[in-house]
Amino acid sequence: MKVLVVGSGGREHALVWKIYQSERVEKIYVAPGNDGMLELAERVAIASDDIKALADWAEENKIDLTVVGPEKPLVEGIVDEFEARGLKIFGPNKKAARVEGSKVYAKEILNKYKIPTAEYEVFTDPDEALEYIQQAKYPLVIKAEGLAAGKGVVIATNREKAEAAIAKIMEERIFGDAGNRIVVEDFLEGEEVSILVFTDGKHILPLSPARDHKAVFDGDEGPNTGGMGAYSPVPSVTKEVEKEICEKILKPAIKAFQSEGINYKGILYTNLILTGMGPKVLDFNARLGDPESQVILTRLKDDLVDLMEMVVEDRLEEIELEWDERAAICVVLASGGYPIAYKTGFKIEGLEGLARHDNVLIFHAGTRKEGDGFVTAGGRVLGITVLGDGMIDAINQVYECVNEVYFEDMHYRTDIGYRVLDRDY
Ligand code: GLY
Repeated sequence: MKVLVVGSGGREHALVWKIYQSERVEKIYVAPGNDGMLELAERVAIASDDIKALADWAEENKIDLTVVGPEKPLVEGIVDEFEARGLKIFGPNKKAARVEGSKVYAKEILNKYKIPTAEYEVFTDPDEALEYIQQAKYPLVIKAEGLAAGKGVVIATNREKAEAAIAKIMEERIFGDAGNRIVVEDFLEGEEVSILVFTDGKHILPLSPARDHKAVFDGDEGPNTGGMGAYSPVPSVTKEVEKEICEKILKPAIKAFQSEGINYKGILYTNLILTGMGPKVLDFNARLGDPESQVILTRLKDDLVDLMEMVVEDRLEEIELEWDERAAICVVLASGGYPIAYKTGFKIEGLEGLARHDNVLIFHAGTRKEGDGFVTAGGRVLGITVLGDGMIDAINQVYECVNEVYFEDMHYRTDIGYRVLDRDY
């Protein structure tokens, strides 16, 4: 079969890598992809949010399955367009993807169906928001309602920072219309985890838990990024915790969607905090995470195409997925200055040496081929991913690999996996 992957980052490289292993797949296309994927897939020069052009191309080229990586085309209705043309596509439709497209909508559902989440208020008027935060308890979380590439959430540790966040989102409008409304919510204390499940709208099939590191600097300091590193599994998400998440959050969420007339098919990615009062939802995403995919898909033994087809064809069974016993960790190498301003075009050195390890995978995000090698071409450049015998081994190995790579202004966190350094499993 012929598969089209939509997107261009590290998540899509991991998707292409995993789909390539399916014996049923003859050819993979990626739109628009990046040059680091060229050994596995053919690039198609169509932007990931040009829905009509993608559907025309998939129709003309008789694509058997399209897999959508990023949120924007999902929120804008790519699934509806493909389905209307009888094309098979994996991902939630526009109505379902709204759980990611509007943080206000997601909070309304959580609240209405009593799914544990932080207390919150919604503001359309910046003056009202500014008045509210005068009396608030800190830290406080300020979120732009719409899509902001993972950068629309600010944890304000004091009133000045909250005021600055409101000004940036609502007055300077750094996220455009995505900041027309904001959610201001209580800060939840505890470990953050990413729980991703396949769902056909009725059944759920959980993937192994992962943990992302969103802040740009060590110690979770600095602004949020799309994600600076991840690992899987997560030792604190024991079988019991997983069960609690399933019973208190995932199953009620799927039921809530049904009650709202949402037929949610695809990946539901729930960001959770494991608080002292149990797991609570931060937000929903309508897709695979980046860089969570790089550590989840590398450990998944089942055929991803089979699983996606089960979802698309409404025949998801509650099977036990098979996982590589090893721990996976991904460290993102970013351009200095990301997520704000950064330069690109720097030569990347040291990648050839890493190719000799069969437990090391290099997922490209923002790279471009130049001559025999690659140069930087984005904020997040590469995701160095290692499978190790337990998390401590994986952490040690990944940083040995990172030390072999160099490009000018290269920035990465040195503490990915810090929460597990004092406990192995
Ligand atoms: N890793 C965060 C995200 O994919 O949204």
